[in-house]
Amino acid sequence: MGEQVPKDKSIDNSITLIQEGYLFIKNRVERYGTDLFEARLLGQSVICLSGEEGAKLFYDSERFERAGAAPKRVQKTLFGQNAIQTMDGEEHLHRKVLFMSMMTTSHQKQLSDLVMEEWDRCIGKWEKEDEIILYHEASKLLCKVACDWAGVPLEEREVKERAEDFSAMVDAFGAIGPRHWKGRRARTRTEEWIEGIINDVRSGTEKALKNSPLYAMAFHKDLHGRELNARMAAIELINVLRPIVAISTFITFSALALHKYPKYKEKLALKNGEWLEYFSQEVRRYYPFGPFIGARVKTDFTWKNCNFKKGQLVILDMYGTNHDARLWHQPEAFKPERFKNRAGSLFDFIPQGGGDPEKGHRCPGEGITLEVMKASLYFLVNKVNYEVPEQDLSYSLVRMPSLPESGFIMRSIKGSE
Ligand code: HEM
Repeated sequence: MGEQVPKDKSIDNSITLIQEGYLFIKNRVERYGTDLFEARLLGQSVICLSGEEGAKLFYDSERFERAGAAPKRVQKTLFGQNAIQTMDGEEHLHRKVLFMSMMTTSHQKQLSDLVMEEWDRCIGKWEKEDEIILYHEASKLLCKVACDWAGVPLEEREVKERAEDFSAMVDAFGAIGPRHWKGRRARTRTEEWIEGIINDVRSGTEKALKNSPLYAMAFHKDLHGRELNARMAAIELINVLRPIVAISTFITFSALALHKYPKYKEKLALKNGEWLEYFSQEVRRYYPFGPFIGARVKTDFTWKNCNFKKGQLVILDMYGTNHDARLWHQPEAFKPERFKNRAGSLFDFIPQGGGDPEKGHRCPGEGITLEVMKASLYFLVNKVNYEVPEQDLSYSLVRMPSLPESGFIMRSIKGSE
């Protein structure tokens, strides 16, 4: 390790990480005035990276790999074991083509149209209720729409529990104890359910449309021309369904932002208007969701006086990069207008990872996320009137993942068309 690279003095930072959450890397990068520092986490030496240059380095697949990077506890809850997130090289690229083929502009449009139809359908139901919690409504709606869009059969009576399971897998990623175990049980239940459907599609007892994600996963062939085993196909299909349900977090933060910054409502009245995009992008930048991602050093190299050793764990600060004052003017201000005419790069705005999604691990679902957020924002601004009663709208920068405490309660809802 070169002399200029700061080493955090604690014997082990695992507890501090839990105490500081989203700000763990940012606090130290600011304290030491560097883009990288070394710390000890879970008994091993880890290099923490932040900023655009750090992100560019992190996504260099000659230098980093994903094998052995994601902790087992994250694989057993959030990702599923041995799934795309843990793959490298040709095998990863081959699997990635499969995912990218389900996320085309026309897939995005299909999904966001379904989302809009479902939101419209909610109005009549909500008008009869005193109040609703937006986060729960969004999770159920997205679970229903994601399954419909992917070709996965789902009865109305199953929606609530399946949605809760998808959310529990996400909620477990930063957790130890009961929240972790809840996520594991949710994963087991969901994998068994989807594996059964994959088997039914393969045996012909369940029909799947040829261009549906269900069909694509069931009959995908790996580089050696073999079908995935049914459990693996299920895990990868869940890697499409679960994150769609997780967009409910961004929708809840969008509602919070609308409530706190109502001056944007007028600009958001145009369907397909550009402000829907600026606002949604700023929600993805400003609010905390994905904190950081890990990879392992593939071969020894030196960067900025720091010796990266083969096998060493390196983590990239997503939240901190999205709040980096060198990249964002007044990063702690919510300003959708910053996205107007923004040039940007593949490494400076990374709420869903960085780099080229076709070549690396960047999230393939950003287009879907943005379209679903825009449709939902349009709905909230233009299709419903509601009151926001007294409630706890604070959100934590320590608990990962974060969410407004109340889940965003809406009252006295009326359709506005
Ligand atoms: C990967 C975040 C939505 C599918 C990722 C990564 C992040 C992320 C941080 C890891 C990037 C990396 O390892 O370098 C999010 C967030 C979302 C979201 C915050 C908002 C809810 C989606 C959607 C889909 C999706 C809607 C699919 C419909 C995936 C897949 C990967 C991934 C399959 C693994 C890619 C790979 O390893 O090559 N996402 N994502 N995500 N995401 Fe998303």
